[in-house]
Amino acid sequence: MFITFEGPDGSGKTLQMKPTADFLRGQGYSVFPAREPGGTSIGDQVREILMNMDNTSMLPRTETLLFCAARAQLVEEIIRPRLNKGEVVLLDRYADSTLAYQGHGHENDIALIKKVLDFATGGLTPDITFLFDLDPQIGLQRRQKSNGEWNRMDAYQLEYHKRVRQGYLKMAKNDPERWFIIDANQSPDMVQSDLNSLLLLYLSNLSNLS
Ligand code: TYD
Repeated sequence: MFITFEGPDGSGKTLQMKPTADFLRGQGYSVFPAREPGGTSIGDQVREILMNMDNTSMLPRTETLLFCAARAQLVEEIIRPRLNKGEVVLLDRYADSTLAYQGHGHENDIALIKKVLDFATGGLTPDITFLFDLDPQIGLQRRQKSNGEWNRMDAYQLEYHKRVRQGYLKMAKNDPERWFIIDANQSPDMVQSDLNSLLLLYLSNLSNLS
C-alpha cells in the first residue's frame, strides 16, 4: 500500500507522519515512512539545492526537473522495493506536489508536467492520498512562527500559494476514489483523529473487497 500526504506549507501534515506510522503498525502493517524532496542520499543533495534561499534565480522549469530527479531516485531506490516486499510506504509529499506547486502554482502546462512525472515515477501512483487542506495565509503564518523552517518555496508570494491550494482541491475533486480531504485548521489531535478514522474506513473497505 502506497499512502501519500499532501497539502500547502504549514498544513501540519509532517507532524502526522509518526502518529500515522505508529497507528498503521498497531494495525499489523510494516510501515516505511519517508519525505520528499529527499529520502535518499542523492535526493537529499538535490533537496539542498531546491531549498537554498540563495538560489533566487532558479527557473520554474529547473525547479520542476530537480523535484522530479529526486523523486525518480526515491521511487527506484526505496518505494518500489518496499512495496514489492509488502510494506506500506507512507510518503510526505509525492508527484501531486509537483502538479500543485510547479503546475498550478507557477501556472505551467499541466499535461506536460504529467508527462514528466510519468517519466520520473514510471507511472507509480499512490493508492490513497490525504490532502491536509488549509488557507495558505494561516499555513505561512504557522511556518513563520516555527523557527528555522522557512525555505525558498515558502518565500513565494501568497497568490502563488493560493493557486497551489486551489490546484490541490481540484485534483482531489477530480479523483475522489484516491483523495481524502482533511480540515487542517484544527488541533493536531483532531487532525490525527480524522486521519485515523479515514484510514480505518479505507482498510475495512479493502478487507471487504479481498
Ligand atoms: P518542506 O520543508 O519539506 O515542507 P513541507 O513540510 O511543507 O513538506 O519543504 C518542501 C517544499 O517543497 C514545500 O514548499 C513544497 C515544495 N515542493 C514542491 O514545490 N514540489 C514538489 O514536487 C515537492 C515534493 C515539494
